[in-house]
Amino acid sequence: MPITTCVFDAYGTLFDVAAAARLAADEPGRDALAACWQKLAADWRSKQLQYTWLRAVTGDHADFWDVTQHGLDWAMEANGLDSLELRERLLALYWELRAYKEVPAMLAQLKAAGMNTAILSNGSPDMLDGAATSAGISGTLDDILSVEDVGVFKPHASVYDLVGKRFGCAKEEVLFVSSNGWDAGCATGYGFTTAWVNRANEPVDRLPWTPAHILNDLTTIPKLVASL
Ligand code: LAC
Repeated sequence: MPITTCVFDAYGTLFDVAAAARLAADEPGRDALAACWQKLAADWRSKQLQYTWLRAVTGDHADFWDVTQHGLDWAMEANGLDSLELRERLLALYWELRAYKEVPAMLAQLKAAGMNTAILSNGSPDMLDGAATSAGISGTLDDILSVEDVGVFKPHASVYDLVGKRFGCAKEEVLFVSSNGWDAGCATGYGFTTAWVNRANEPVDRLPWTPAHILNDLTTIPKLVASL
């Protein structure tokens, strides 16, 4: 069945999650952050995701902005950073994350080819609107779907169900694209055709399902869609 609908994870896939720590580290007077920004960014991301899974398993949901702050607080403490001003600056930068450079042209190509396009993300609607607006990609997205509609984080199946509900399409018509190996793997298990964007050349996650396609970045998505 041909692909009609291309759905993208947001954080790490369309938006560069390491950019907040990297940009703050470049600012004057940030020597302590400059010395550890890569570890801070990795710890922040890792804790943020762990907290989403733990909240999904326990049923104690909090929105992604809360979980993002909890992850940052853990990461700042682990890296010996104790500054309310820095915390606020990192969060402000996270709200306006930049998109990877190939994203606007890739989305425009998909729209020109008649595809439905959407984000499907753990992010809360206001976070996602903020990021999409500052990245200038709102006009090439048909919708931004948030887990807040179902109150549980990925990879709960009710999150992936949001795509069929919004676009009235079969699972087989959906190409789901994520830079998170676990998200791409679980979406494969759900029934989507998947592409894992493996920018960091990481090993494949040891899950019962593996992504159908593995890409270095998003540039070739329109070509991939046309070939399916
Ligand atoms: C998201 C996270 C998982 O955007 O990156 O859903």
